[in-house]
Amino acid sequence: MLGSGLIGMFYTMSLHQQRGKDRVHHIYSRREDRAKAFAEKWGIPRYSTDMAEAINDPETDVVVIGLPNNLHRQAIELAAAAGKAVLCTKPLAMNGTEALELLQTVEKTGVFHGYLEDLAYTPKTLKAVDAVRKGALGQITWTRSREAHPGPHSDWFWDSKQSGGGAIIDVGCHCIEIGRNFMGKNNRPLEVMCWADTLVKPIDAEDNAIGLIKYESGAIAQFEVSWTYRGGMDLRDEVAGTEGTLRIDHFTHTGYELFTAVGMGDYVGEKVESEKGWMFPVGDEVNALGYNHMFEDMLESLDAGKQPMESFYDGYVVNAIMDACYRSAKSHQWEKVELPIWRGGDEPVAKIGFKEYDENHLYLKEEKMPDGRKKLILKNKTSGEIVEKIV
Ligand SMILES: NC(=O)c1ccc[n+]([C@@H]2O[C@H](COP(=O)([O-])OP(=O)(O)OC[C@H]3O[C@@H](n4cnc5c(N)ncnc54)[C@H](O)[C@@H]3O)[C@@H](O)[C@H]2O)c1
Repeated sequence: MLGSGLIGMFYTMSLHQQRGKDRVHHIYSRREDRAKAFAEKWGIPRYSTDMAEAINDPETDVVVIGLPNNLHRQAIELAAAAGKAVLCTKPLAMNGTEALELLQTVEKTGVFHGYLEDLAYTPKTLKAVDAVRKGALGQITWTRSREAHPGPHSDWFWDSKQSGGGAIIDVGCHCIEIGRNFMGKNNRPLEVMCWADTLVKPIDAEDNAIGLIKYESGAIAQFEVSWTYRGGMDLRDEVAGTEGTLRIDHFTHTGYELFTAVGMGDYVGEKVESEKGWMFPVGDEVNALGYNHMFEDMLESLDAGKQPMESFYDGYVVNAIMDACYRSAKSHQWEKVELPIWRGGDEPVAKIGFKEYDENHLYLKEEKMPDGRKKLILKNKTSGEIVEKIV
């Protein structure tokens, strides 16, 4: 485990609790006291302040990266050179070019690679994506993914030299990959329109952004991110299709509400701002955020010798989309998503299309009126006339 911060802790909790056969064997942290304390807390046999030593430890067979974004490259290159399986947290890289190079590095050496995008694995998301794949919502026209909170918990996130950007690269990457899972990974992201601004925090990156990603099918994936949103972590997804709609709330409004006049006396949940009053705790954070299902897929795939649902290829596509977002935020124009490698397949993706009613008409809609009549609205294919029928 590389990194003893927030994500290193969540990953370790999940790994130790999950399949019953996985253990963190060696923890790397910059400071010896942190490494030692982490090792003691989680029962980890070895710790070090030397990244290469932890990776090259003969007992290490999977390298899990939970380090600041600008250190992912070094860690991945060391793991690939050592021939070790490598699982990297989000974002894969600082930009699309670096992400592509890292994909090529792991593919050249043939090591197993996984992109740790936990929010694609939440129990709700997995079930919702399955419903979408089975056609429950018809053709997908629009997705919306939102991650907004009061800002990250460590200095390096706020320094774009170490993080690669602001709220887009930090949490937009989650929203983009959630949208991609709903759109279907063979559906090519074509272009992006993005607004980003620095409204509140004294940083040289964006603290708020909204983006629209246009896919080959014609559908639009919208994301909304903020580092200045007050009241905790707002994590929500919506999907609209020609035959249905779904909405997911992952945090803050999940059905558990608690009022306390005296306080909880402990950690309540990630990015929770208040300690008293109405609280919205999350029952099982590790599970609700998808860490368990993610590691299960990663390690079962490793054991079975197959690719996991989220690989470095997915991380590279996400980085390429974010690059287009940054270009669009500057140019105020739609910007093309540059994907020198595209593996969505050569089959054209079905475009969202009109619905036939009969051989002469296209279908617009039907509605039951308050007086009990049912109206049907159709378009004559030859004349183009729009007609209303009472049925
Ligand atoms: N849900 C998620 O998938 C999720 C959530 C949070 C963070 N992350 C990602 O995990 C990574 C780490 O984030 P975090 O929240 O754990 O951050 P953190 O600040 O809590 O922890 C970072 C760790 O890296 C170490 N570190 C910092 N600077 C270093 C340096 N120069 N050299 C060596 N070690 C250094 C810190 O000591 C700490 O152990 C980031 O890439 C972040 O985007 C993912």
